[in-house]
Amino acid sequence: MKATAIAPANIAFIKYWGKKDPELRLPLNDSISMNLSNCLTTTTVEFSDKYQEDYFELLPYNHRKKLLEHNFAVNNEEKKRVIKHLNRIRKSAKLKCFAKIVSQNNFPASVGIASSASGFAALTVAGCAALNVDISEKELTILARIGSGSACRSIPDGFVEWKFGESSETSFAYSLYPNNYWNLRDLVVLVANQAKKVATSEGMGNVWSSPLMKKRIENVNNRIKKIKKALKDKDLSMLGEMIEEETDEMHEVMQTQKPSLIYRTKETLKIMQDVQSWRKEGLEVYYTIDAGPNVHLICQEKDEEKVIVKIKEFNSGLKFIVNKPARGATLTDQHLF
Ligand code: DP6
Repeated sequence: MKATAIAPANIAFIKYWGKKDPELRLPLNDSISMNLSNCLTTTTVEFSDKYQEDYFELLPYNHRKKLLEHNFAVNNEEKKRVIKHLNRIRKSAKLKCFAKIVSQNNFPASVGIASSASGFAALTVAGCAALNVDISEKELTILARIGSGSACRSIPDGFVEWKFGESSETSFAYSLYPNNYWNLRDLVVLVANQAKKVATSEGMGNVWSSPLMKKRIENVNNRIKKIKKALKDKDLSMLGEMIEEETDEMHEVMQTQKPSLIYRTKETLKIMQDVQSWRKEGLEVYYTIDAGPNVHLICQEKDEEKVIVKIKEFNSGLKFIVNKPARGATLTDQHLF
């Protein structure tokens, strides 16, 4: 009763910002994302009578061997959220025994890349496999969604759409195109000195306090149509225009919520401006930003090196992660314990 899954984080081209049902995590709108090949969470789950309680350990990045014996600080709220999700999985298997869960990201936890998508996707897939819960990919996405909304998009392969749905059964994610469909790049620029971020679950609770939210819901479907067409035609300029418009709109909503949420720093805004001038110079690259200061730079494979040169010219001290479109969550026999 032990299984391990690896799941990618994903970058939203169309964002999930606002819930119709916070308990079930039913979103207000459909969203579209791309899985990231180099932002991964590995999770091993073992259910056994030998455990007297549920045990959850998050191994720090790159210190796997040394820290296997040490607990890495996981705050109590995070632990509770993981155990709550484990209970959902146990319920589907009608089983009552405790589990040990060990998880590890291949990117540093402190840099503000959302790990809840990859984390809850890996936990769902590993937990269900460990208990031999035989469910379809669609049902796995529904289960993962209840753990963390964006996690449902980390289960199917490549480019993924999450349908908002009127009920839990109809709010699921599926693959629009596999990972090898379009060789895009996402260079995540890790912006330094980030302010402590307000958790997305909390921030999303206040969406309707923004006077811009109503307009956003009216706009989003049209943008989804255009993004789908851009994906179909592999049209980067259309995709780029839409993802920037979408990013700007979500951050305007965040900023006009009460209390106001400001995730972008001065450096974030400077990169956004520079991206526009890089484009004027003929380099086709676009930005998108989730709930944090980090900037995702989307370009074609052929421009990857040129974008790296630009990032280094911008600030040679900035770290960045290069991603390709990736498969969704998969099982592996490389257990963490
Ligand atoms: C801004 O999936 O982290 O990244 O469902 O409360 O866990 P919860 O929220 P989460 O929200 C992600 C929000 C976003 C946009 C997106 O990924 O679509």
